[in-house]
Amino acid sequence: MFRIVVLLASLLFADAARAITADGRPHGNFFKPPGVPRIEADPNQGPVVSRNGTQLPPYNTTFFFDQLIDHNNPSLGTFKQRFWHTWEFYEPGGPIILMTPGEINANGYADGYLSNRTINGQIAQQQNGSAIVLEHRFYGLSNPIDNLKSESLKLHTLQQAIDDLEYFAKNVVLPQPNGDQVTPDKAPWVLVGGSYSGALTSWTMVNKPGLFAAGYASSGVVEAILDFWQYFEPEREHMPQNCSADVQAVIAHIDQVFSGKNTTAIQAIKENFGLGDMTHLDDVAGALRNNLWDWQSLQPTSGPKTTFYAFCDALEVKNGVSAPAKGWGLDHALQAWGNFWTQGGYLKRRKRYFILSTSPLINSSISKVCGDTSAEECLGSYDPTQAYYTDTSIDNNNRSWFWIVCNFVGYLQEGAPAGHPSLVTRLVQPAYDLRQCQFMFPDAFPEPPKVDIRGTNTKYKGWDVRIKNIFFANGMRDPWRDATISAEGLNVASTPEQPIHVGDGFHCSDLSTASSLVDPTILAVQKAALQSMATWLAAWKPTAAGNGGRQPAPGPAGSIPQGRPAAAPVKPLSAWNKGAGTA
Ligand SMILES: *[C@@H]1O[C@H](CO)[C@@H](O)[C@H](O)[C@H]1NC(C)=O
Ligand SMILES: *[C@@H]1O[C@H](CO)[C@@H](O)[C@H](O)[C@H]1NC(C)=O
Ligand SMILES: *[C@@H]1O[C@H](CO)[C@@H](O)[C@H](O)[C@H]1NC(C)=O
Ligand SMILES: *[C@@H]1O[C@H](CO)[C@@H](O)[C@H](O)[C@H]1NC(C)=O
Ligand SMILES: *[C@@H]1O[C@H](CO)[C@@H](O)[C@H](O)[C@H]1NC(C)=O
Ligand SMILES: *[C@@H]1O[C@H](CO)[C@@H](O)[C@H](O)[C@H]1NC(C)=O
Ligand SMILES: *[C@@H]1O[C@H](CO)[C@@H](O)[C@H](O)[C@H]1NC(C)=O
Ligand SMILES: *[C@@H]1O[C@H](CO)[C@@H](O)[C@H](O)[C@H]1NC(C)=O
Repeated sequence: MFRIVVLLASLLFADAARAITADGRPHGNFFKPPGVPRIEADPNQGPVVSRNGTQLPPYNTTFFFDQLIDHNNPSLGTFKQRFWHTWEFYEPGGPIILMTPGEINANGYADGYLSNRTINGQIAQQQNGSAIVLEHRFYGLSNPIDNLKSESLKLHTLQQAIDDLEYFAKNVVLPQPNGDQVTPDKAPWVLVGGSYSGALTSWTMVNKPGLFAAGYASSGVVEAILDFWQYFEPEREHMPQNCSADVQAVIAHIDQVFSGKNTTAIQAIKENFGLGDMTHLDDVAGALRNNLWDWQSLQPTSGPKTTFYAFCDALEVKNGVSAPAKGWGLDHALQAWGNFWTQGGYLKRRKRYFILSTSPLINSSISKVCGDTSAEECLGSYDPTQAYYTDTSIDNNNRSWFWIVCNFVGYLQEGAPAGHPSLVTRLVQPAYDLRQCQFMFPDAFPEPPKVDIRGTNTKYKGWDVRIKNIFFANGMRDPWRDATISAEGLNVASTPEQPIHVGDGFHCSDLSTASSLVDPTILAVQKAALQSMATWLAAWKPTAAGNGGRQPAPGPAGSIPQGRPAAAPVKPLSAWNKGAGTA
């Protein structure tokens, strides 16, 4: 008993060291990584059975693949890359559906992304295919090197990730009948991804023509953008208009006061939100982005009880009356937003005896930003000695993703340019985040990084992608839409070779079967995709590009045969409490 308590305490401590916010971000001014939503297992899921009635291993059975550490130097050998697989729907000749959930520990993704609770399983079911979930290098327990130091992360590039997909497809021996006879020269492979991995789907098909027979990119953020202030645009347009108007009014006011010299007025605003002790005004104003970031958690299946809508209700519903489209105006909105943070429990859940008070804003269904740390510790971004900047242990997806952000893609979520309406403070600009690249990777960035946006968009084509057999699925309300091929004003034509379909969904909504049951526009996207897959796969012929031939795996002698379940490598303590909750 005593030992269990000690173990739990150390687990909590390990995670707290690099995650300060309640939702696991390093601090409360750190954006949410894009991310594929986790789809939970069917609560009534029985044993998985193949088409001929044979019972198969459960979806969550972990397999290991010997992946090259460095595709530029195969002599460095291999590491264990985790994957999950099922041949529930497979018939000889069927395709192999491959997806990586991208920038996250992939444990817990198999139940949804191998089954027909997602588009992956729907494609597999329609086409008699088998399905794979592959953990991306440097996330979870799939690490070429067992730490996340800058030196090791030199192997964490978009190209290495693309090369991983190719090497995996050409060399894996799948744990299914004829599992050594389904490489891309012999069977069609379909690459599926969402968000970053949706972009990776497009980038891979640009970079490795002919390797994949077809692709499905959901909310694929194909274009790298440094100052991605447009992140908040779909939200500004689709949130309740009164709430949008009032948020803009409050933010414009705060920016004006914070840019002036009236310290009394400045302090009053800080205290309004319970942030009176904080040091940096950009951290204070930037922290209010959290209410807008909550939009990213919405799905068509979310229902009305979400933290985002609790926030708009708090601002817009006064004595049971809802504000008109222009909102209640600055004075009420500023005070109501402040109350939501303090008495309302958004900053920190109030202690029990406050819940018994009469305030209508106290509502336990909203999530909170900070745990038990001070506001400065939770929301401040200026202390380079914080463990979330210095801890280089593995299975820390925020760190691994930030490396990609600082080097290759940007997507920094800042205030809109002057003159354009803004839901978030203009005090936060790219320099604010690039400073943190230096805090997290001081060896790599003695100067603020020059993120190689242009290199990424040149090499992998970004919005200029024009290839065959890739299906782009996007959502009108997706905050990431303006980095996808369905960005506002871009107007890339949808063609039979490269269809582009937009539903009313949010981020990656069309990956989920449940979303299509509540939203007919998403059902239409999925039906169109299934139709394209049927056409493309029917026309598939073995290609030279898929026929790279097996590359000899230079793994150390005696390594575990590929595709067999193997004893899990020793899991670091901090990894055991991951994978709970939804992304
Ligand atoms: C980092 O970000 C993800 C969102 O992708 C979050 O769910 C996770 O818990 C975070 N923290 C850690 C320590 O992994
Ligand atoms: C795997 O899924 C089964 C149900 O199919 C469940 O009982 C088991 O706990 C899961 N194992 C892990 C490691 O999540
Ligand atoms: C998913 O597969 C199960 C079992 O084959 C089937 O009963 C169910 O109808 C399928 N769901 C969809 C949405 O196709
Ligand atoms: C899937 O397999 C079934 C049964 O063998 C067959 O009738 C059907 O044509 C196959 N579908 C495709 C798309 O190959
Ligand atoms: C049917 O089940 C048997 C027994 O597990 C297996 O060996 C065989 O490969 C299966 N065939 C197909 C087409 O799934
Ligand atoms: C400073 O702000 C306070 C509080 O808003 C206000 O009462 C005061 O008049 C302002 N002082 C000046 C010099 O504008
Ligand atoms: C709590 O918030 C939810 C979601 O906004 C709302 O439906 C519910 O009525 C609230 N409960 C109370 C007691 O205010
Ligand atoms: C005003 O805000 C409320 C609460 O979020 C919302 O239900 C309502 O639709 C909004 N009305 C308008 C006109 O924006």
